[in-house]
Amino acid sequence: MEVLIPTDRIRDRVAELAAEVTRAYAGRPVTVVGVLNGCVVFLADLIRGVDLPLRVAFLTASSYRGEATTAGVLVIRDELLPDLADRDVLLVDDILDTGKTLTRVVARLLDKGARSVKVAVLLRKEGRQEVPFEPDFVAFSIPDRFVVGYGLDYNDEYRHLPFVGVLQ
Ligand code: IMP
Ligand code: MG
Repeated sequence: MEVLIPTDRIRDRVAELAAEVTRAYAGRPVTVVGVLNGCVVFLADLIRGVDLPLRVAFLTASSYRGEATTAGVLVIRDELLPDLADRDVLLVDDILDTGKTLTRVVARLLDKGARSVKVAVLLRKEGRQEVPFEPDFVAFSIPDRFVVGYGLDYNDEYRHLPFVGVLQ
């Protein structure tokens, strides 16, 4: 495994991001919504650095591939979310790749009555976006390589690695 972002760099940068989030909301309460399963490690570290009144909730978003030639169908499951009416939501995900997932999830949260939705991602892959989407908080931009660790998986494995690495 090639280490792309070592553990101590992640720790320092996530702490900076948590301070940015704290400043952005200026004391207002925030509902952090994590996109399972990839968000878990990043979210757990991020929220411990945020100094705001804060709630945590989760949804899942998964792409299922049908015919080999058609795009994956994104299935969002949000039945565990609390009432988001008039809440300021910070959506947290592991990686912004094509942008399709986050675009759809933001629309869903606004549909459910959230007053605002900001987005924090650990990683943003350069040159991969297919839909225009600007996240509010990005920890690292990375080249177009398949990465695992710190929440990111390959076949549901490797999420627990404390660094971001490239599978050989
Ligand atoms: P998007 O809809 O193309 O932006 O897809 C984002 C989702 O694809 C992420 O939430 C990840 O689950 C997955 N993904 C994209 N790139 C990688 C990667 O390099 N490693 C692991 N998962 C990835
Ligand atoms: Mg994901």
